Amino acid sequence: MTLLVGTNRPGSSTLKVCTHVKEIYAGFKIPLKVLDLALLPSEIFERTAYTNKPASFQPFSIGILESTGLIIVSPEYNGSVPGILKYFIDMLKFPESFEHRPVCFIGLGAGMWGALRPIEQLQAIFGYRNAFVYPERVFLPKINDLLSDEGRITDPEILERMRDQAAGFIDFVEKLRSVKLRSQSSVTAQDAIAEKISVPR
Ligand SMILES: Cc1cc2nc3c(=O)[nH]c(=O)nc-3n(C[C@H](O)[C@H](O)[C@H](O)COP(=O)(O)O)c2cc1C
Repeated sequence: MTLLVGTNRPGSSTLKVCTHVKEIYAGFKIPLKVLDLALLPSEIFERTAYTNKPASFQPFSIGILESTGLIIVSPEYNGSVPGILKYFIDMLKFPESFEHRPVCFIGLGAGMWGALRPIEQLQAIFGYRNAFVYPERVFLPKINDLLSDEGRITDPEILERMRDQAAGFIDFVEKLRSVKLRSQSSVTAQDAIAEKISVPR
């Protein structure tokens, strides 16, 4: 699984939230490959990069292409996603980067909406790109109040929400990647669905 740090701002709260995300997934024994936009190579900002991707961008491109699932943590900048995050998306291979790729979102903002706007904008982008969007989002409003002087989230309720999302997203990715609905001739697809999600029949 891959974790995308959605800004390149030095000292960002986004990076601090990402530290928690890494710890939470580690708790589920799932190591995350981290793509930090602060580490994008300068060549990717050449105008020629739209047509010729620099070799130095390959680790980022491959980090997305090889991800079984993608967790995106985005702050809110001017009621939207950071420009660097949109630019990064624009630099990735089309269409395979997001086609049928499971993705989930965590948003944070200084204001009271907790990055609702950028996350919904990202959902629109990833919907357009045929990603499998995990519906449970986590919003972190008033992020400056949520982070301690050490840059840690201390509110157990928020951490629980992040853990619940991670557990649900892991389940979502595992099911998308491995459920076989048509494996046995005697079992119909409907039976398999009912069995998997325990729907009363
Ligand atoms: C360029 C810029 C624009 C911002 N615009 C908003 C905004 O529209 N709404 C908001 O709640 N916070 C806004 N913020 C504050 C960020 O949400 C705040 O810095 C928060 O810590 C998350 O961003 P960070 O990961 O860069 O720290 C903005 C910050 C920057 C640097």
